[in-house]
Amino acid sequence: MVNRLKIAIVKNQREITLRLSKKIGLMISIQTSRLTLRDFSQNDWLPVHSYASDPEVVRYMDWGPNSEEETKCFIKRAIAYRQEQPRRNYDLAIVLEAEDKTIGGCGFHVSSPDNKEGWIGYVLHRDYWGKGYATETAGALLAFGFEQHKLHRIFATCFPANAASAHVMEKIGMKREGRFREHRWVKNGWRDSYFYAILDYEWKALKQKK
Ligand SMILES: CC(C)(COP(=O)(O)OP(=O)(O)OC[C@H]1O[C@@H](n2cnc3c(N)ncnc32)[C@H](O)[C@@H]1OP(=O)(O)O)[C@@H](O)C(=O)NCCC(=O)NCCS
Repeated sequence: MVNRLKIAIVKNQREITLRLSKKIGLMISIQTSRLTLRDFSQNDWLPVHSYASDPEVVRYMDWGPNSEEETKCFIKRAIAYRQEQPRRNYDLAIVLEAEDKTIGGCGFHVSSPDNKEGWIGYVLHRDYWGKGYATETAGALLAFGFEQHKLHRIFATCFPANAASAHVMEKIGMKREGRFREHRWVKNGWRDSYFYAILDYEWKALKQKK
């Protein structure tokens, strides 16, 4: 059974359509105006590897650059999430509809079901930066979290030097809540993290304004 729901996206009054399969193990697919966010398949490993092995892309990530084996492991884990019941973890391909091409990946994870809290993340192939795709992706993930999972709070983190990512979070209405000092040990060094978050009623108010 397919359940459809239309939600105005934060920017440009665009609409996104969420198509959710209610059957466990089936693929999830979230449509925005230019993108489809869907479960990974085995065939995605090569396009994923093309950005996951790029040192510039993973510069501010806590993983990478990936070996082929690491990318294949990631895809395997992402596909296994489809079996969760209830499902709380989604690592999804970002597919550019105009080119029918996987250009990145994004994540939505329910971190605390009791507190109705989740987090999001995103990464794009370098050729597709600066075109608004991350903003479109992150906006759709917020809609997914608040509308489908009925979350109260969604957060995201980035290294303070990752200005593009911080900007994406701000553009979708997340507020910077703080800077955690030496929060994570990444690539041989302690890294600070910016924490951004948005609450359900803030997201609804933003949606109504548009
Ligand atoms: C972060 C990332 C996903 C952004 O993707 P994107 O599709 O280029 O993002 P968008 O085009 O939607 O928006 C980026 C915004 O940041 C701005 N920006 C880009 N680089 C910037 C910089 N160095 N300083 C300030 N702002 C910057 C852009 O101008 C744009 O804002 P605008 O629309 O107001 O002009 C992409 O750069 C990426 O994949 N980086 C590597 C992986 C990564 O760091 N992921 C996030 C981990 S927390």
